[in-house]
Amino acid sequence: MNTRIKALLKNGLSKFIYQIHGLYSTPLWDDDDHFNELMRQITEYTLIDKVRCFMIYQYARQVATLSGDVAEVGVYRGGTARLLAKTFEEKNKTVHLFDTFSGMPSTNPSKDLHKEGDLNDTSLERVETYLYDCKNVCFYPGLFPTTSKPIENILFCLVHIDVDIYKSIADSCKFFYPRLEIGGIMVFDDYGSFSCPGVKLAVDEFFSDKPENPCYLPTGQCIVIRL
Ligand SMILES: C[S@@+](CC[C@H](N)C(=O)[O-])C[C@H]1O[C@@H](n2cnc3c(N)ncnc32)[C@H](O)[C@@H]1O
Repeated sequence: MNTRIKALLKNGLSKFIYQIHGLYSTPLWDDDDHFNELMRQITEYTLIDKVRCFMIYQYARQVATLSGDVAEVGVYRGGTARLLAKTFEEKNKTVHLFDTFSGMPSTNPSKDLHKEGDLNDTSLERVETYLYDCKNVCFYPGLFPTTSKPIENILFCLVHIDVDIYKSIADSCKFFYPRLEIGGIMVFDDYGSFSCPGVKLAVDEFFSDKPENPCYLPTGQCIVIRL
């Protein structure tokens, strides 16, 4: 058999095996009992789908041995806040939670599709009740970053930023980047979402003169690992 035909057969066979493997490998997020129990607790309280939650969960486990606390900007009804609180429960880390708890602040129509007041079907009291058994959380209701004073001297190993709009993303980057431990991770939700164009705009702008490269994930999220 000539070498060209041999090479074609070899390539075709390895592609075929690769595709079969893809079909039959189990998604690991369905196999992890601890994660699945957390998903059971949060599904009704989060806008974030299971695969994106699994990414947050994995990055949380990755940074758990670093020093520094954890923060989330954009809590809404508290779903991903519970995911973080429970994942870090045994790690002696406080999870600092920032939200207006009364809906989106004012937005910029040239950069955002959200309108002021979107996602206002929540409240601080409701989220406190939902997270009643999470002893490692701290609430900062109001407009971030005006609520950030109490944490200005804290360093962070993980920050989940899920605020959907340009200015809130820009303010979160400005505040948390210098407070991120080396090896610490910022996870941005909706970096690739058509409904939140301001996210990518603000992240790309902020990191354009930094050594870190925002890594886009196929889930639509983006992560930055502090160098
Ligand atoms: C998409 S929701 C968060 C979803 C949540 N992580 C979950 O698990 O479903 C976005 C939230 O960001 C909040 N938000 C946006 N900008 C903010 C700011 N500058 N300060 C405080 N909260 C803000 C909104 O009030 C809203 O609750």
